[in-house]
Amino acid sequence: MKHFINLKDIPAKDLRKIITDAKKRKRQRKKLSNLEVDKGSPLKGKLLIQMFEKSSLRTRLSFYLAIKQLGGSTLTLRPDELHLSKGGESIQDTAKILSNFGNAFMLRTSKDKKLEEFKKYLSIPIINGLSPSSHPTQILSDIFTVEEIKNKPISKLNITWIGDSNNVLNSLIAASIKFSFKLSIGCPTKYQPSKIIMKYIKNNNNKIRILHDPKKAAKGADVIFSDKVISMNDKVNKSKKLSQFKKFKINKSLMSFAKKNCIFLHCLPRGKEVEEDVFLSKKSKVWQQALNRVHVQKSILLYCFGKLR
Ligand code: CP
Ligand code: NVA
Repeated sequence: MKHFINLKDIPAKDLRKIITDAKKRKRQRKKLSNLEVDKGSPLKGKLLIQMFEKSSLRTRLSFYLAIKQLGGSTLTLRPDELHLSKGGESIQDTAKILSNFGNAFMLRTSKDKKLEEFKKYLSIPIINGLSPSSHPTQILSDIFTVEEIKNKPISKLNITWIGDSNNVLNSLIAASIKFSFKLSIGCPTKYQPSKIIMKYIKNNNNKIRILHDPKKAAKGADVIFSDKVISMNDKVNKSKKLSQFKKFKINKSLMSFAKKNCIFLHCLPRGKEVEEDVFLSKKSKVWQQALNRVHVQKSILLYCFGKLR
């Protein structure tokens, strides 16, 4: 049994194995419809319990399909309906019940510490479905999408992030270290990665550059990633922050600094950080990106259950 909490704590060879498995599985079920089960039904009889402390559309749907396609089932708990959220039951006791009734637990949380607390008491795998500091299932799936579209290992590509230094970027930074790809980050000086992340970069990698000019960051990119300037629960002066990102808006002119065949990716939901004529252009692969979450999360589930082929 393995947990899936942060990319930085998972060996690179395991992350690669997950992507390879997802490629194979996606290819093999081309003719199957959404709810048809993969051959061999590898997670038959298994229950994935999901809980979202923050909103979700894609993660919720993609984990639903992922476990179903592996032959298992899922149940989504509402945190406001549990004793836990009202202080009426401990994480320890909640974790014991989850472990007795279910086989894996996917948690989207507003507190990183909660993932660690649950991990301590669960005897089933826990998967991080987004926390304030990371979004590992999203980024692993995005690596898959980049390689699928570019038909090359990501280590051979120039990846650019333009936007806020948030949870999604933290996972992209961890991925850059694990998969050894060049990452240019374009963000305002005030919004560069936290000290902890800067230290992690310094200690592990020399392929990451932080630039405060979006054009320089976009130059020569094979892929440009972005995300909302204001994340869920971001306690900031929203209009002030948005105005500080004005120069970092992804528009056609900024895309023209990248390679001709550069693609645009965004985990969604979107805000005003990208112009419609980029977001809806041929270069934008955001719908394919969202759908791939299903395939990669299936292989993440199999990894957690110790069942990767
Ligand atoms: N990208 C992503 O995680 O989307 P949701 O918040 O809708 O799950
Ligand atoms: N950075 C965004 C990602 C949403 C999927 C947030 O945390 O709100």
